[in-house]
Amino acid sequence: MSLVLDPAAQDLLFREARTANTFTDEPVTDEQVQAIYDLVKYGPTAFNQTPLRITLVRSPEARERLVQHMAEGNRAKTATAPLVAILSADNEFHEELPQLFPAFPQAKDAIFGERPVREASAAMNAALQAAYFIVGVRAAGLAAGPMTGLDFEGVRKEFLDDDHTPLMVVNIGRPGENAWYPRSPRLSYDEVVTTV
Ligand SMILES: Cc1cc2nc3c(=O)[nH]c(=O)nc-3n(C[C@H](O)[C@H](O)[C@H](O)COP(=O)(O)O)c2cc1C
Repeated sequence: MSLVLDPAAQDLLFREARTANTFTDEPVTDEQVQAIYDLVKYGPTAFNQTPLRITLVRSPEARERLVQHMAEGNRAKTATAPLVAILSADNEFHEELPQLFPAFPQAKDAIFGERPVREASAAMNAALQAAYFIVGVRAAGLAAGPMTGLDFEGVRKEFLDDDHTPLMVVNIGRPGENAWYPRSPRLSYDEVVTTV
């Protein structure tokens, strides 16, 4: 046994966790989202820059505005999920760096003074945090349905601003009827790992 994590937790987070396409009506509360965030905020990012930003789409009016920017095949689930979150990268994350990385506060200007450098770094590190967030949703006993089939520029203009780049939209809730497709295969260890 090489893994120290309880096998039930391994199942909850990975083996039995699935990408949900339908959901029950059970609400997802702000308390649940806060508990998820307060867990996954400890996931590592470069210089502790933590560029992920989360927009919870709760009101029916906002939900309708979002659905219009989703690809056709993603609209029904985005309309009916108990909670939908827009995950984005803050390209101005460096403003918080002196506080977030006190060991080297000069990083704000010395490393991240140029916007293109920040955009590349925010994209990578916010994507990492998006993955932590999905696993956190599972840790709360909920299912996530991440989606990138959407009009990114439309979502950015509708909900964000020039300093934020949308990464994905995530449906969150308890799985409903016929919630998932058959499990697709994964690449094996030998196909993925090389040792030099
Ligand atoms: C970043 C990302 C984007 C995705 N975009 C979509 C999407 O636009 N529409 C959709 O139906 N599924 C989307 N998926 C779902 C994937 O197809 C699904 O997570 C993958 O096949 C694994 O499914 P499983 O968790 O049930 O094994 C996306 C997943 C991720 C992680």
